[in-house]
Amino acid sequence: MSLPPTAVRGFKDILPEQARLFRFIEETARVVAERFNYQELCPPILEKTELFTRGIGEDTDIVEKEMYTIVEGSADSLSLRPEATAGMVRALIENNLAQGGKIAKFFCLGPMFRRERPQKGRLRQFHQLDVEVFGTPGPYIDAEVIDFLHTFLTKLGLNDLSVVLNSLGCPDCRPLFRKALSAFLEQKRPALCLDCQRRLERNPLRILDCKNPSCCALTLQAPSLSSFRCLKCQEHFDGLQDSLKALNINFVVDDKLVRGLDYYTRTAFEVQSGQLGAQNAAAGGGRYDGLCLKLGGPDIPAIGFASGLERLAMLIEQSNQSFLLAPPSPDYYIALLVQEALAPAMILVQKLRALGQKISCDWEVGSLKSRLRQADKAKASKILILGPDELAQGLATVRDLNTKEQVCIPINQPDLF
Ligand code: HAM
Repeated sequence: MSLPPTAVRGFKDILPEQARLFRFIEETARVVAERFNYQELCPPILEKTELFTRGIGEDTDIVEKEMYTIVEGSADSLSLRPEATAGMVRALIENNLAQGGKIAKFFCLGPMFRRERPQKGRLRQFHQLDVEVFGTPGPYIDAEVIDFLHTFLTKLGLNDLSVVLNSLGCPDCRPLFRKALSAFLEQKRPALCLDCQRRLERNPLRILDCKNPSCCALTLQAPSLSSFRCLKCQEHFDGLQDSLKALNINFVVDDKLVRGLDYYTRTAFEVQSGQLGAQNAAAGGGRYDGLCLKLGGPDIPAIGFASGLERLAMLIEQSNQSFLLAPPSPDYYIALLVQEALAPAMILVQKLRALGQKISCDWEVGSLKSRLRQADKAKASKILILGPDELAQGLATVRDLNTKEQVCIPINQPDLF
């Protein structure tokens, strides 16, 4: 006998409890987006692979080894999106959404795919809220985007998270830092982990982010990004910090915060939580001023972030908000005590649902005692009983399961229920 099918590693079913949490998170995101006047823009899940290689960067882990790519004959190579930013930029350019220097603010919600090693908080299919703002270079918009994230997390009931901030410099000053860092690390090459030895040629900044204890120890003495920052980048960073202070958003500056995607310039940030384990980022983002131009569009400055719904759900589950996990309770449980009740019950239930009542019915006939047990299990507010006496008079007995009060209502008058 063949074995029953199993899901693909790293791809998880979203079971009802998790789905309720996701819905709460998504609804909260939409409320916040409306207050901030950000519009929903949904790029497709599948894009040309080239968009991601050019957009995210060929030397990133994501593009090097984590994409799900489909190649069909001579057609373009296609990939499931590992993130949403590149697709958002493509959509902006292709649909002319920033015409005439217009500031454009968008968000999207949906699944992303990365072939990473699955572990706690790290899946191969995961879901993000992604937020992007195009068309304005100043630090105030960086502060607004972080304020969006902060408002969203606060509305989810997640208060003790830390906002970690850095400025990664610009094409003027970052190459100088990169050169100094490479020279320093080159001398220590044998002590670096194998991944970082590879990164040394192609992406030395990522070494600052390595969790390997020997690499961490080495980078403690490495040149610091802040001492290479140019005046304009420093002014931008100071402006952002002043704005966040004015908004009462606590943050810490971490000179070693670098991000796993190549497109960032200046501002980079993460929201981290000690409760998430090794994968501690609940959200991450930053400014990516050169990406539109690099992808063949106009030169539009941009900033955004993304937050992982699975990690947010983990934090909400730990935050004493168990009411969010409970299934919604129906208004009525329909108790069918005789076979003849089935046909009139079906018509009544359809009418009650059309009137907006939440009805639970399993279409099984049984004793009142067993039906009461089911009503209790379903956590219904009331039980609607259709037995032989009720049917003879065209009535239904309605019992409030909290107060135990009971009334009889004609079944041909659904609006009285
Ligand atoms: P990211 O840091 O790669 O940034 O991902 C953002 C968030 O998505 C992470 O902080 C985490 O919550 C979640 N996440 C990432 N990978 C996984 C995974 N394998 N399993 C579960 N959750 C995960 C980006 O994606 C950028 N596009 C963010 C951005 C938008 N930057 C500018 N605009």
